[in-house]
Amino acid sequence: MKFFTLIMVALVRLAVAMPAYESLIGLSEREINEFVARNGIAPIPNPPEPLRAGQNGLKLVNDAAHPFKTQGTDEIRGPCPALNTLANHGYLPRSGVARPDQIVTAVMEGLNLGNDFAKFLTYQAFLMNGNPLTNLMSIGMKTPLTGQDPPKPAQVGGLSQHGTFEGDTSMSRVDAFFGDPAAFNQTRFNDLLAYATKYGVNGTYDVTAASELRYERLQDSIATNPQLVFTSPRILSAYSEAVFPTVYFVDGRLNNRQLTQQAATSFFAMQRMPQDFHRQPAPVSFEVIEPLTGKLFKDHPFVPGVNHGKNNYIEMPQTPAVSDFCGIYRDIALRVIPEQYPRPTGPLKDAIKKNLVFLYGAVSFQHNCTQVFPYGK
Ligand code: HEM
Repeated sequence: MKFFTLIMVALVRLAVAMPAYESLIGLSEREINEFVARNGIAPIPNPPEPLRAGQNGLKLVNDAAHPFKTQGTDEIRGPCPALNTLANHGYLPRSGVARPDQIVTAVMEGLNLGNDFAKFLTYQAFLMNGNPLTNLMSIGMKTPLTGQDPPKPAQVGGLSQHGTFEGDTSMSRVDAFFGDPAAFNQTRFNDLLAYATKYGVNGTYDVTAASELRYERLQDSIATNPQLVFTSPRILSAYSEAVFPTVYFVDGRLNNRQLTQQAATSFFAMQRMPQDFHRQPAPVSFEVIEPLTGKLFKDHPFVPGVNHGKNNYIEMPQTPAVSDFCGIYRDIALRVIPEQYPRPTGPLKDAIKKNLVFLYGAVSFQHNCTQVFPYGK
């Protein structure tokens, strides 16, 4: 009922904000997104609320209402195994083009991400890779389906855009220097399985396997990728993504932080939830993820940096460290986003500012970061 009300409110706001060329009532989420992409400026709904008590627990999520379907030829997938899987099960529009609020809802519903954590991941990605005017983002490659781009240097490149959220040293993708960094790579993934066999309890991908693999991926890229970049904000996503599978891809009934190789293959290679898959028994947020990434860092500390040629890693200690959460937030807001939007005006500026407020809302809850305003208050 609440969802229905939200849709109705969104539709009314849409109708008020834009010339009503056609009635939107009765259109699917995908059709509404396509309408917005064709027609320019979209209303920006507030981020979804946390799942309510009684609806935020253990649940069968590979259910009849969310059947797996292989992506169609015109459907976009990208570098994130979780979002690809959620699109293949219809938690996200199967087109692979979505509004940020749809992404927040999908990761809460499908995998039980905590609300603030879901918002942190989503709004930073959206600000770097989405279209603030149409409020749409591709979960993979750049596409006209997100509408007309704001002026350059804005990229609106989708999640596959290298050098934004997508970056080097991935676990199941190659570095951009070697090929398509968004495409699943079996050889890379075989390394993940080998590390599970070598280091994990009973051959599972657990936090020890994650720790050793994360270290190896950095060492390998330092040795082989002359253009390696391993600085904020990529360092944080690299470390978080290494531990995500040990939490969110593990069936919530077991919830032992040990991902079997079979389940890992299902999510990463097939982009499909295992049969009978249940999500986490309670929303999981920073308070669980950060100690795990902290362990990875403690096991193998590193200084952010870039390669100037193979095996020539130049440390950049003046940039935020992976443990400096608020420093990374500031770096995103004051450097990364203004690089794409140096002097936005009008509705574009309003939209970016609104999304920056949503991003700050996600980091203010469990972190005491000071809010920053790259475009004034
Ligand atoms: C909520 C919004 C999310 C966004 C916007 C997002 C975005 C991304 C992006 C851009 C990448 C590519 C980074 C790279 O390796 O270069 C990525 C990778 C990854 N994501 Fe997500 N993600 C989200 C949620 C999740 C969730 C809930 C999980 C849970 C398991 C997850 C698991 C992963 C993993 C394991 C990788 C690493 C793939 C690899 O290194 O090969 N993501 N994500």
